[in-house]
Amino acid sequence: MRIPSEVLEVLRDQRVVIAGDRVQIPFELGKRLYERVNRVLKQAGGKWDSRTRAHMFGRDIEELLNQAILAGEFVSNMDLGWFPSPPPVVHQLLEHASIRPGMTVLEPSAGTGAIAGPAMGRGAVVDCVELDEHRAAVLAERVPARRIVRGDFLKCLKPNDYEQGFNRVLMNPPFHHALDHLRHAIGFLGEDALLVAVMPRYVEWRTDRPYAEFR
Ligand SMILES: C[S@@+](CC[C@H](N)C(=O)[O-])C[C@H]1O[C@@H](n2cnc3c(N)ncnc32)[C@H](O)[C@@H]1O
Repeated sequence: MRIPSEVLEVLRDQRVVIAGDRVQIPFELGKRLYERVNRVLKQAGGKWDSRTRAHMFGRDIEELLNQAILAGEFVSNMDLGWFPSPPPVVHQLLEHASIRPGMTVLEPSAGTGAIAGPAMGRGAVVDCVELDEHRAAVLAERVPARRIVRGDFLKCLKPNDYEQGFNRVLMNPPFHHALDHLRHAIGFLGEDALLVAVMPRYVEWRTDRPYAEFR
């Protein structure tokens, strides 16, 4: 996400405090400018908190935000297509996949483990990939997966490295690259394996070539 110049100007103001898990702007902004600043801070993971009168991030963002201010951009949650799968969706995925104890499962865009955790709960042996550093760290804390790779699934995992393949691939990929992720993931399926994915609806009807070919 590119940070608009007027928002950069605010964040670069000497009076703004960017420390630990919060950003404090100790001066008044006009309504329109406040909305723009708020939008950027929200995309960076912050939430306005009236008690502390600061945007709170729930983690240390000092270095990340200072780098973003220097570069004038950062990779936002929206850029990464981030949202956790809700429990009813996870339940549906697991039911379709008929996970049994001992099955090997790949979750190639694992977020904080909304799918990987319950798959392990059903006895699966799960390998995960997640691009976002913070979510990968949360994932590692929450989910005792066999392997967690922090990186780009499309680049850092190669089907040839997994000769046997996986019994199941379960995924809810970033929607703006959903088809690329799905096609790459198919390469990791073993014999008699199954892939179950949450996909944008337009995969069923888009007429441009990649979608038509995929169908
Ligand atoms: C829609 S979220 C779903 C997360 C998780 N699968 C779930 O269902 O809760 C997509 C996730 O893919 C991650 N992601 C985006 N691009 C990626 C990539 N190239 N490789 C691995 N993960 C990626 C995002 O950071 C985000 O956590």
